[in-house]
Amino acid sequence: MLCLGIETSCDETAVALIQDGKILLEKIASQVEMHGVFGGVVPELASREHLRVLCPLLDQLFSDAPVNLKDLDGIAVARGPGLLGSLLVGVGLAKGLALSLNVKLVGVDHLKAHLLAVGLEQEIPFPAIGLLVSGGHTQLYFLRSPLDMNLLGTTLDDAAGEAFDKVGKLLNLPYPGGSVIDRIAALAQPNTKMFPTPYVDNQNLDFSFSGLKTAVAKVVGGNQELRLPELRGLDEAVEFGRSHPATAELCASFNWSVAEVLKIKVKRALQAYPQARTLILAGGVAANSMIRRTMYIVGDESKVKLLLPSPGLCTDNAAMIAHLGGLLLQAGFEHDLTLDAVPRGRAVPNDFLSSQCGSSVRQ
Ligand code: KG4
Ligand code: ZN
Repeated sequence: MLCLGIETSCDETAVALIQDGKILLEKIASQVEMHGVFGGVVPELASREHLRVLCPLLDQLFSDAPVNLKDLDGIAVARGPGLLGSLLVGVGLAKGLALSLNVKLVGVDHLKAHLLAVGLEQEIPFPAIGLLVSGGHTQLYFLRSPLDMNLLGTTLDDAAGEAFDKVGKLLNLPYPGGSVIDRIAALAQPNTKMFPTPYVDNQNLDFSFSGLKTAVAKVVGGNQELRLPELRGLDEAVEFGRSHPATAELCASFNWSVAEVLKIKVKRALQAYPQARTLILAGGVAANSMIRRTMYIVGDESKVKLLLPSPGLCTDNAAMIAHLGGLLLQAGFEHDLTLDAVPRGRAVPNDFLSSQCGSSVRQ
């Protein structure tokens, strides 16, 4: 099966071709620089930029690919959750293409696509526990099979990536702060007493990171020398961390607290689901080196196989959309032209044309 994937849910415009479960070709245009000026994604600008670059990107994809549009068996598009105006750009193009080419259309849940992205690189032994840590979500799932998963826990406030980005902003680091903090954190040892590990003294699998961000804000507020004096580029920010050991220690300590909370909750999920054979780490924050190292230890201790996607499959991409879309189409699930986009905060419905979808998600 040859499936086209389209991803426009946030600040990456991406298209990809998947053939029989393998990536044939992908193209991605990042808006990070544009939003960096504002210290975060500006939804209106994001949707305009998707509209500007999506069709040229698709042209590029097919001019470099050994196949053409007429060879497609299906079109998969990220339908949410995400920025509504941005999603509509991708969904609109997907519908137009499906109609004009007379091929199958399927709307894909961006979060489930993140969880299954590693399946493009390695086989996933099911059942699995999945930890999705991205800019918008921090969630734990139990996956019985690729198309059958349950949400076990979610964040009550900030997502892990959001906490990284807000701490980055407090320190005047370039946007998005996550990867910069990762690099600066590597320059120091964490002080495990500096920050709390919030919302772990309970029995549940939910998360809360806003208190951690507030704790960092208090330390930075009383110690302005920890911040970069002005917003600089990535390499200069890392250089600042090198020459300011207290900033590096703060980054390492904050990163440790996030990793520790994730570790405690993942271990709890693995204990609650002893039948799990695999632990999947997914989403942009899964690129974080300290969190990856921590999860290796969790996997070893819990005797489950840890699956980590390569960094390009952690952050937003269209290959993961085409991958899950291909699985859905092969299982007989598709959408018609009434397919709707789903904004952040709303659950993506199982409104496929086929009534057999076994997925159940609590949101
Ligand atoms: O999955 P993603 O690309 O987009 C969403 O769906 O949200 O995740 C983006 C998030 C951002 O918050 C970014 O700061 C974070 O992933 N991120 C990282 C790292 N690389 C990206 N956070 C910590 N360490 C990293 N190396
Ligand atoms: Zn994402």
